[in-house]
Amino acid sequence: MKFGDFAKIKSLQTTSGFKDNLQRLGLAMPCDDIVVSGPNSPLGAALQVGPFTIGNRFAIQPMEGWDGTEDGKPSDNTIRRWRNFGLSGAKLIWGGEAVAVRHDGRANPNQLTMTAGNQASIAQLRDTLVAAHREAMGDDNGLVIGLQLTHSGRFCKPNDKTRWEPRILYRHPMLDRKFHVAADHPLLSDGEIRALIDDYVIAARRAHDCGYQFVDLKHCHGYLGHEFLSAKTRAGEFGGSLLNRTRFLCELVAGIRAEVPGLEIGVRVSAFDLAPFRPDPAQSGPDSLGPGVPDDYSQCLPYRYGFGADERDPVKADLTETHAFLDVAKSLGIRLINITLGSPYYTPHLTRPALYPPSDGYKPPEDPLRGVMRHLETVRALKQAFPDLAFVGSGYTYLQEFLPNVAQAVVRENWVDLVGLGRMVLSYPELPADVLAGRALQKKRLCRTFSDCTTAPRNGLVSGCYPLDHHYKKSPQMVRLTQVKKAANLA
Ligand SMILES: Cc1cc2nc3c(=O)[nH]c(=O)nc-3n(C[C@H](O)[C@H](O)[C@H](O)COP(=O)(O)O)c2cc1C
Ligand code: SF4
Repeated sequence: MKFGDFAKIKSLQTTSGFKDNLQRLGLAMPCDDIVVSGPNSPLGAALQVGPFTIGNRFAIQPMEGWDGTEDGKPSDNTIRRWRNFGLSGAKLIWGGEAVAVRHDGRANPNQLTMTAGNQASIAQLRDTLVAAHREAMGDDNGLVIGLQLTHSGRFCKPNDKTRWEPRILYRHPMLDRKFHVAADHPLLSDGEIRALIDDYVIAARRAHDCGYQFVDLKHCHGYLGHEFLSAKTRAGEFGGSLLNRTRFLCELVAGIRAEVPGLEIGVRVSAFDLAPFRPDPAQSGPDSLGPGVPDDYSQCLPYRYGFGADERDPVKADLTETHAFLDVAKSLGIRLINITLGSPYYTPHLTRPALYPPSDGYKPPEDPLRGVMRHLETVRALKQAFPDLAFVGSGYTYLQEFLPNVAQAVVRENWVDLVGLGRMVLSYPELPADVLAGRALQKKRLCRTFSDCTTAPRNGLVSGCYPLDHHYKKSPQMVRLTQVKKAANLA
């Protein structure tokens, strides 16, 4: 069975069918025929990273639900999601979800915020996760939990789900146009950046007091940390040279080390950015969304607005600066690195390979397996260059039935240290526990990348797996989501 030109993973049926398909696509993706459980399982092997012994090779990626209270506390939905993260059996919880260090940096009016008043409830999230993990796995040995700290930069909507309130570092000719940033919109000043660094340090102190063992200083997906890395055209101390563009990270780390000794630090970074994509206008109409094509960047060359993008040809990656960034991270004593790609706002096919687009996206411009391969190869190259850093990889969900086979192979072959799971744990939280115990996969619960967990929040609804998780399927918001999808010709 085909969707567009792409074979559906479900239709491939067997590992050999999956491998044949990889061969047809010319993808040299490692894939083991047999997934091992028990003491010899590569995915069940512990990993030592600095002071941590991480009990197995599954990590849960951060995923927010746009479902906190207006003052930034977890809701019942948030608690349920974190409970599921604990039930998964994964031993590394990378960040839980993006938590804003202060109000103006919230990506939406329901994002968690690490204020003094919210600290106790954000500690409870962790406690809930640990209790669920013990319930599922018998103990919490080898469980390591971090909190992702963020400021959403040009993607802030702190007060109203429909109103951007961007805080930007430089003028980005393509993103300013795409997201309607006015030409005279003020840039964050160096003084404002220093005040923000103080807010991060306070948030890190609170995270530590809550019991989190590390904080992720988020540098990905187009949010503020990531924007620093591409601030080539910015004047002053935080722009221009890579030294200046990594000053934010360096000062954050120095501040946290001074104020919160004992708290480990990780970084989730988009290894490269490309020029923004949009639905192909030639193939889009009132009733159809075209496949993704790069927006016209011809007036923006050399392209000095992307981190890890080739300046002459910004639909290609150039990892030179990514390597330099990891050198900086390493020199700061950071050992935990989580690699992701691009941004869900302007290159969603890079970040989350999927067959079905979200309402603000486009049809896949390539077989999504190529997108998965891009993730795997990027991490492999970085792991080879930095063997003593611990890498978490992203973008595995699209592998569906064959996720365990590929996950085991890439860990066994040392392409990656930990397999990070995103959407798959929204639809099927217990997948890691099932794989580690040698139980058959529950195929009806496999995420099929329908993208409703993105379409919902893009339209003011809470996120969740509406098609496969009964909690959302039966919720009143499902009715609204169906209307939204119909209107966007996605239903
Ligand atoms: C609903 C949803 C919420 C997400 N929230 C975050 C977040 O808070 N922080 C983050 O770094 N990435 C976030 N992501 C990206 C995921 O962590 C992950 O990188 C992405 O889904 C690709 O992995 P996958 O193929 O396993 O889903 C989110 C993704 C989804 C679908
Ligand atoms: S809504 Fe469910 S099936 Fe669809 S992408 Fe999200 S987790 Fe996967």
